[in-house]
Amino acid sequence: MIELKNVCFTYHEESTLKNVSFHIGKGEFVALIGSNGAGKSTLTKLMNGLLKPSSGTVTVMGMDTKKTKSSVLARHIGFLFQNPDRQICKNTVAEEIRFGLEQVLQDKTLIEQRVNSIIEQFGFDPSANPFQLSRGERQQLALASVIAAEPEILVLDEPTTGLDYGECTKIMSFIQQLNNQGITVIMVCHDMEIVLDFAGRILVLSEGRLIADGDTRDIFRQEETLKQASVLPPQIAQLALRLESGFEKVFTAEEMAVALAEKTRPQFFSREGRDSHERFSGLCAG
Ligand SMILES: Nc1ncnc2c1ncn2[C@@H]1O[C@H](COP(=O)(O)OP(=O)(O)O)[C@@H](O)[C@H]1O
Ligand SMILES: [Mg+2]
Repeated sequence: MIELKNVCFTYHEESTLKNVSFHIGKGEFVALIGSNGAGKSTLTKLMNGLLKPSSGTVTVMGMDTKKTKSSVLARHIGFLFQNPDRQICKNTVAEEIRFGLEQVLQDKTLIEQRVNSIIEQFGFDPSANPFQLSRGERQQLALASVIAAEPEILVLDEPTTGLDYGECTKIMSFIQQLNNQGITVIMVCHDMEIVLDFAGRILVLSEGRLIADGDTRDIFRQEETLKQASVLPPQIAQLALRLESGFEKVFTAEEMAVALAEKTRPQFFSREGRDSHERFSGLCAG
């Protein structure tokens, strides 16, 4: 779906992205992590064609972004900016969603159907003024406008930053549902608990270089890589890393509970326990 080959990008003098290559397949849920200034937002803008590589190629669904108009790419890729206010420009919720759809669709009836359906899904008041909504509600509106167009790929730059727990859960459950339907998701995220819960794969960016690319749980056990990217793994995973053997597959509170129960099972199941049990059985038999 998305392929980057030896991509470099420079805003002014110093290069912001250095020789980045990866391939993302259909239906994947990929998290992009790294410290502030690592180049994550720049990378998302290269994926949707807002920026073009200084060298190397970015291919989206077979289209080279250098040779394809942003408006054409926009039909396939939905993009949520880091700040929802950069996206919102109309006076009511319904107008905002309609405006987004008009950029990619022509059929007026279809547009109205989509507007009404997405408003119902999110439970919005269609006549509300976007700028009087809370930050969380504006974020939801920005996301709604993006997904109303039914893109095959969603690129989300920090979709949950600044949201409370309830708002965050609501947004993430929408994103999860879309991914379950086969939509490819690429999400920049600073919350490693969310990354663990939702992403199957992680790309780690440090100073413009891709320093790791792999399965979420494998990456969360690579302490050196995470340190280099100034990222801390989820809390339970950090604790598990400090513990002895038997905790290698522990990343969540539930898994920790199971692993601890396993460790504290009655002696009977331990080597010594088994030996004494065998001796005891032997005595009885004798
Ligand atoms: N429009 C811009 N013009 C010049 N430099 C920029 C611009 N946007 C970002 N940068 C620089 O590029 C680097 C990467 O920024 P960014 O992609 O926003 O990182 P991240 O999203 O990981 O925090 C930073 O050093 C930042 O200052
Ligand atoms: Mg950013």
